[in-house]
Amino acid sequence: MKLLAPSLLSADFSKLKNEISAVEAAGADWLHLDVMDGHFVPNITLGPIIVQAVDRLASLPLDVHLMVEEPDCYIPAFAKAGASFISVQVEACTHLNRTINRIKESGSGAGVALNPTTDLSSIEWILESVDFILIMSVNPGFGGQVFIPNALEKIRRLRSMIQDRELPTRIEVDGGVNEQNIEEISSAGADIFVAGSAVFGSQDYTMTINSFRKKVGP
Ligand code: DX5
Ligand code: ZN
Repeated sequence: MKLLAPSLLSADFSKLKNEISAVEAAGADWLHLDVMDGHFVPNITLGPIIVQAVDRLASLPLDVHLMVEEPDCYIPAFAKAGASFISVQVEACTHLNRTINRIKESGSGAGVALNPTTDLSSIEWILESVDFILIMSVNPGFGGQVFIPNALEKIRRLRSMIQDRELPTRIEVDGGVNEQNIEEISSAGADIFVAGSAVFGSQDYTMTINSFRKKVGP
């Protein structure tokens, strides 16, 4: 099943409640929350307090993407704040297996995110232990960037790794996803589509999400 996960990073934070209700009413499947620490990426966004507030306002699963150094220190706080899923950047994890265990012990689903130039070999030995692999199709840090085309080949290769091993692991794609490229990204093998500016920058969230849904299929 294909899932659409609008990224709140591009929402209007001065009316967060309305923005959340609007994307929920528009038919989103998950809400994606980008956590940035000013160290792993050159930007600072939100912490567990905001995730907790979003959890009170939202009924959809919260997909928390940690772009932080030392993610192990913060996993329990984000899980407690209501994260249904927590993904960590593989580049920030020295002991990835331990980190993934920590996410699961905290009660959240687990994902691993890969920067655009990080090789798939980095997740070869964790693939069967996570709910999804997140392929970054922009350099993490900001919304509104352009999709890096070679992410498509990376998604195809990951899809075949997953198929060869007959795993249920899903593939999430994040960065520069829009109406023009979502069909091709879906055909390459992605299951979960994060889109920030393409949703929150559009006039009508329902029209945008319906059009995404038509292009990716069920
Ligand atoms: C980038 C974030 C993305 C971002 C995507 O570092 O991980 O989730 O919000 O925004 P768009 O869809 O505008 O590229
Ligand atoms: Zn993200």
